[in-house]
Amino acid sequence: MSAVRIENLVKSFGNLVAVNELSLDVREGEIYGLLGPNGAGKTTTIKMLMGLLDPDSGYASVFGVDSTENPVEVKRFVGYVPEDQQLYDSLTPRELFNFIASIRQLPQEKVSRRIKEFVKALDFGKHYDKMIVTLSQGNKQKTMLIAALLHAPKLLILDEPFSSLDVRSAKIMKDIVRIHAQNGGSVLLSTHVMEVAEGLCDRVGIIDEGILVAEGTLDELRVTAHKDGATLESLFLKLTEQEEEVEEGVSVLKEALAE
Ligand SMILES: Nc1ncnc2c1ncn2[C@@H]1O[C@H](COP(=O)(O)OP(=O)(O)OP(=O)(O)O)[C@@H](O)[C@H]1O
Ligand SMILES: [Mg+2]
Repeated sequence: MSAVRIENLVKSFGNLVAVNELSLDVREGEIYGLLGPNGAGKTTTIKMLMGLLDPDSGYASVFGVDSTENPVEVKRFVGYVPEDQQLYDSLTPRELFNFIASIRQLPQEKVSRRIKEFVKALDFGKHYDKMIVTLSQGNKQKTMLIAALLHAPKLLILDEPFSSLDVRSAKIMKDIVRIHAQNGGSVLLSTHVMEVAEGLCDRVGIIDEGILVAEGTLDELRVTAHKDGATLESLFLKLTEQEEEVEEGVSVLKEALAE
């Protein structure tokens, strides 16, 4: 069974088709990277998968559970880090974690041990009892990541999760994602950082204007794009037809800066 199954998913906002007949699968034990330019439809897709947004048509499921019909069951399997931080400002991370543990009815001792390990690994102890509203961007991101991992979910859905993390924390989080997959867990990850996708993902899907334009391993994408040995960055730009725009943009700026 696939961890994630998305079939012909469509979502429009007025005249804009944000997600257009999108189909993809995340296999069990796989780290799948969802890549695409700003506004491509990544977050919209993830929200439909989480049951936070109803599709116009098509189907999304997590371990066979329909996202639209049974979003509560879906959330049981998933640790989700949304792109915009949705945290309770007036709680401390400690209070938030305890709150989550109680609504998820997690065994106290196990959770305490897990929290302790994360706090130590991410050097988070100093911030553990501060009000969330007072935390820096990266420390809020750590709070969200720990919160998403508390119940040892089978599937991690991470929407641009490492953007504010410092070098050490980003490295540790990438390792945690890898370990999660090695233990049989699955990951759907959206990112703009090509090195993260290249280093971490087993397969990537590239979406542009709501359409899946390419999918596969790095080597498969090289074949699709007819670019032997290319980096993911250059494949991405080619497959989203932005190569020439980048060159033009740079040459215009070069002239402007020389004036
Ligand atoms: N609630 C909404 N109402 C109207 N338009 C929306 C809404 N949510 C998203 N959109 C539009 O749908 C398109 C896809 O947005 P989405 O947030 O899914 O993109 P994304 O791939 O996550 O981009 P980014 O990389 O910037 O996070 C965009 O054009 C966006 O403006
Ligand atoms: Mg997004």
